[in-house]
Amino acid sequence: MPALRYPDTAPESTAASRPNFDFTNNKAGIQAVNPNLTRRRFIKGVIASSVAAASTNAGLRAAGAQDQGSGTVERLVSLNINGRVRRVDVLPQETLAYTLRYKLGLTGTKIGCNRGECGACTVIIDGVTNYSCSTLTQSVRGRAVRTVEGLQAADGTLHPVQQAFVDELGPQCGFCTPGQVMSAVALLEENPRPTREEARQAMSGNICRCGAYDHYLNSVMRASGQSS
Ligand code: FES
Ligand code: FES
Repeated sequence: MPALRYPDTAPESTAASRPNFDFTNNKAGIQAVNPNLTRRRFIKGVIASSVAAASTNAGLRAAGAQDQGSGTVERLVSLNINGRVRRVDVLPQETLAYTLRYKLGLTGTKIGCNRGECGACTVIIDGVTNYSCSTLTQSVRGRAVRTVEGLQAADGTLHPVQQAFVDELGPQCGFCTPGQVMSAVALLEENPRPTREEARQAMSGNICRCGAYDHYLNSVMRASGQSS
């Protein structure tokens, strides 16, 4: 049966010492995902935005005119996606993963669990990895969002991390691969020559159901210019 988490390097490690997926900094001090993002905070945001939307709709019905006052959420927003400004109609409670895939056609970002547990939807926001299924699109206005589609050069040349994943035959089914790539890119931009253990920690927010963890770690080490 394939391993369901990045394997520990120490064979005597216990379950308690393995990486978790709770959005917090891990034991090596390397950020796997945005530590400011929690499931509770996300749900609070959804509830707050839904209340705002409901009150806005009530106001619209009562007044029979568009309400531009406090409590409204502008739906037509500008997003900076892969260096391009995209105008898109966004519902208050809409997740970034949904917007990317179903409004902007950027289907490289996958939705697996849709609840902040698997990492398939990982994107980079202002240099930090985030689960886009647990990020409200309205919250990324004015911020730089990078998806897997934005990695390759204009002439089609793959990003070095993407090329390393190919060279190491990293993916198996490939579903988790975009998220794995985004986590690896964020890691190497912050730490260009990580140890294998540092890479394992940084990638610990990305689950691979096929258990291709060692292949992915080999890919990260190759992309960093170190032998795997
Ligand atoms: S789909 Fe977002 S973490 Fe699983
Ligand atoms: S889930 Fe299949 S390669 Fe990771």
